[in-house]
Amino acid sequence: MRLDKYLADILNLSRTDAKKIIKQKKVSVNEEISTNTNLIIDEINDIIKVDNIKMEYKKYIYLMLNKPRGYLSATFDKSDHTVIELIPNNFKMKDLSIVGRLDKDTEGLLLLSNDGSFIHNLTSPKKHISKKYYVEYSGTLKENACELVKEGINIDNEYTTLPGLLEPINNNSAYITIYEGKFHQVKKMFEYLNTKVTYLKRVKIGNLELSNLKMGETKELTNEELEKLKG
Ligand code: URA
Repeated sequence: MRLDKYLADILNLSRTDAKKIIKQKKVSVNEEISTNTNLIIDEINDIIKVDNIKMEYKKYIYLMLNKPRGYLSATFDKSDHTVIELIPNNFKMKDLSIVGRLDKDTEGLLLLSNDGSFIHNLTSPKKHISKKYYVEYSGTLKENACELVKEGINIDNEYTTLPGLLEPINNNSAYITIYEGKFHQVKKMFEYLNTKVTYLKRVKIGNLELSNLKMGETKELTNEELEKLKG
């Protein structure tokens, strides 16, 4: 990989700015200052330092964000705030994608990655990865709501949800676990059950729970957490 591309990727710089820091003699390759922007480096084995700080090259990144309401699950939007604005610059790798969107007014566990096969494994409709939500609602749930969720609910005459799990907490809150991720699915299911969702938060994907991140905070997944998503 070219040195300027490497620096642009890892430091989230434009190519022009990457070339600039090379010309400014801030970059060393294997302990020797390099001013050659075209230099081909081995990103795995060469030791690259910027201002004497060793760069850790990672091809793939796996992030967990505690999404606040008011942000679109998108990488760019002309008028709305997007979750990408919440990601610290050092994590803003190229090609970062959102793994399973949340509505603008939904909070909670959102994953982002640039690893295509990881994204596919979690979002493919064939994989049936579980998603657990904490829901607050107005109205009274149908008496047999738990059975209906377990049997599958017909949404808009278009599809029937896979058997899910409804766990009421009290008269206006519950947990629901679903196994697909259709547009507004939880809201539509609660509508079918005679209620209206007033607050929605994703708390778990597969075996991975939202850790105690503050609202709007991001962290890299540990290997142990990644294993939980595979298991
Ligand atoms: N179901 C919804 O209705 N909205 C979400 O954001 C996620 C699941």
